[in-house]
Amino acid sequence: MVSRVIPVEDFDLVIFGGTGDLARRKILPGLYRRFCSGQMPETSRIIGAARGDLDDAAYQKLIGEAIAEFVPRDRQDKDKIKAFLKQLHFVPIDARGEKGWPDLAKLVRKDAVQAFYFSVGPGLFGDLATRLHDHKIAGPQSRVVVEKPFGRDLESAKALNAVLADSFDESQIYRIDHYLGKETVQNLMAVRFANVLFEPLWNAQYIDHVQITVAETVSVDGRGAYYDKSGAMRDMVQNHLMQLLCLTAMEPPSKFDPDAVRDEKLKVIRALDPVPADNIVRGQYGAEGKVASYIEHSENPETKTESFIAMKVDISNWRWKGTPFYLRTGKRLKARMSEIVIYFKETPHSIFEEDAGSHANVLTIRLQPDEGMDLRVTIKEPGPGGMRLVDVPLDMTFADALGPDAEDVPDAYERLIMDVIRGNQTLFMRGDEVEAAWKWTDPIIEGWQTRGDKPMPYEPGSSGPEDSLMLLHRDGRRWREIRK
Ligand code: BG6
Repeated sequence: MVSRVIPVEDFDLVIFGGTGDLARRKILPGLYRRFCSGQMPETSRIIGAARGDLDDAAYQKLIGEAIAEFVPRDRQDKDKIKAFLKQLHFVPIDARGEKGWPDLAKLVRKDAVQAFYFSVGPGLFGDLATRLHDHKIAGPQSRVVVEKPFGRDLESAKALNAVLADSFDESQIYRIDHYLGKETVQNLMAVRFANVLFEPLWNAQYIDHVQITVAETVSVDGRGAYYDKSGAMRDMVQNHLMQLLCLTAMEPPSKFDPDAVRDEKLKVIRALDPVPADNIVRGQYGAEGKVASYIEHSENPETKTESFIAMKVDISNWRWKGTPFYLRTGKRLKARMSEIVIYFKETPHSIFEEDAGSHANVLTIRLQPDEGMDLRVTIKEPGPGGMRLVDVPLDMTFADALGPDAEDVPDAYERLIMDVIRGNQTLFMRGDEVEAAWKWTDPIIEGWQTRGDKPMPYEPGSSGPEDSLMLLHRDGRRWREIRK
């Protein structure tokens, strides 16, 4: 199989916050990889804009170091790095003052795609947008990319949407949720809508329940102050898990076009039931040996913020009524594992002996690690001894199935930035979608704040608090094991 890399149009990408952590860790290393694959035209330019008196050479050096640190060694090619760095420029800029803006205006070309990446705190979005307009740097053809967190509740998200809307049309705004850029997440849509096999069964009549797990082994060390104001609900559920749920639950869009897809996702969010307190379990990791506890990492002895959350979510529409979606995410868990698991119902009637061992089908969509899919089907156990049944996996690990092509699969950021340049908003969140997600999230958070609920402690390296297991046990179900 030969992978097709289609070069994008010539572009100028301005990264505000171009010396920051995200730029060094994700954005620039991602662009380097796209450069190596031949997707970035040689005339395209990346312009770092930030405080600090760097010149082009100093910025190129800084990003060269970031590539050395964050790109795997076997992907580092001296000549290619040199050629890539030549496409980098730097403009010292003051987001709240006038410094640097005339220089940026001179540099950004009008005859190429223009994209402005706001890799800065949301407090600066308004300042950047206004100055881009006042200095006539951005116009109706420009695109603006904004990062999560997009607000911390409905009110702040509305305010951010309003600030952006003052300067840009919705068709110019690209709100990033990097989970949408993951290969398997898009594969979920391909599996559902490019095969006849699954869609007829994709509803409450045939699906018993769905589990969505995003388990991480990392702690919040180093970002405790940010995280403590956010917690797993705001940091992961309102965006990443919500997007996974939407893609799993949405109706088939009429076509694979940005608004058709986003309209269907929005309908799912609007159909989510409010979640009662006893359908939610929150947790906080404790200490282990020399590794500090959540409380120590957060530097807030009074903290009631959750580093783990599990919840049962119901969707009130014809397709899903009666089929719960169980969501779970947390830090410092047993393994790094993200997957969506579809548990189908048992056959309506078994023609085999009761002890033959028939089980229901299970479809697992693995996001990480080892992206792939696995469908468990029941077959006859080989050999004599009558009709005994056994579950076997129909496993498709993408790396095995696609060979070397799978290695060149762009990571989430690479793909999303190239989509911005192409002008494709399908994998970005629309303003109304983000607001609807907060509208559902806010009362849940307000509920535990009003009651003063404290998260339950859990052991680092475990699967979260014991009570999260009960959430399924009481429904006669079990979580899939979090494993390496
Ligand atoms: C980020 C969250 O959006 O996603 C982090 O802020 C989290 O807390 C990260 O660790 C997880 O992303 P990934 O791609 O490593 O699963």
